[in-house]
Amino acid sequence: MTKLVEQDLRLKHVKHYYVDYKEIKGFRKNIVILENVWFKYPRTLTYVLKNVNLNIRDKEHVGILGPNGSGKSTLIKILIGLLKPTRGSVEVLGVNPRNRRKLVGKIGYVPQNPTLTFTSPTVFDEVFNTAKKLKIPNPEEETENVLKITGLDKLLILDEPATYLDYKAKENLIRILEKIRKNVTLIIASQDPSIITRLCNMMLVLDKGTR
Ligand SMILES: Nc1ncnc2c1ncn2[C@@H]1O[C@H](COP(=O)(O)OP(=O)(O)OP(=O)(O)O)[C@@H](O)[C@H]1O
Ligand SMILES: [Mg+2]
Repeated sequence: MTKLVEQDLRLKHVKHYYVDYKEIKGFRKNIVILENVWFKYPRTLTYVLKNVNLNIRDKEHVGILGPNGSGKSTLIKILIGLLKPTRGSVEVLGVNPRNRRKLVGKIGYVPQNPTLTFTSPTVFDEVFNTAKKLKIPNPEEETENVLKITGLDKLLILDEPATYLDYKAKENLIRILEKIRKNVTLIIASQDPSIITRLCNMMLVLDKGTR
């Protein structure tokens, strides 16, 4: 961590730091814009996110830190359009992420609990089984085609990527991300500050509205 600059004093809920200010100098367009975002889950009383404002520029590497239940996964689900803010606006790569068709192939998302989302042990099986379920003709050939055209996403979002990894696997993951990060915008939510300080040049700290 070379330098810590508090970036936006308006934020009550989110502390927003540039970890390495040098890296992000120069014009880069904002590809994630959150304005006055409030969020509460249905049938609950308390807001999980309170007036969050956030700009993430192209090729920035952003870490979201915060304790259990501080809203990291909720914020990420809003960014990828799985959840709709109760109030406020969200723009990702120029579109409202609820319009998910427009973002197909542009965002890579690794959820916190992959076992709840994926059912197969490999990417091939996952796509193949889905193709079969959807009764797509020639599922094997289609799977190969899909995997061939799936390149590196522009925006890569990882929710607690190191949770189930031992030391060696975590180091491997960090090495892979170090290699690809210069070409992508990276958002990593984690309770583990080490992964964030090694990979990110900007850090948000979610802390339930207190500073
Ligand atoms: N589907 C849901 N319905 C109601 N409340 C929820 C739901 N999902 C999460 N919450 C609540 O919202 C708050 C934020 O949860 P969230 O999962 O976003 O936190 P987190 O920072 O990702 O936590 P963790 O570090 O455990 O992953 C918590 O109080 C949680 O209990
Ligand atoms: Mg989480």
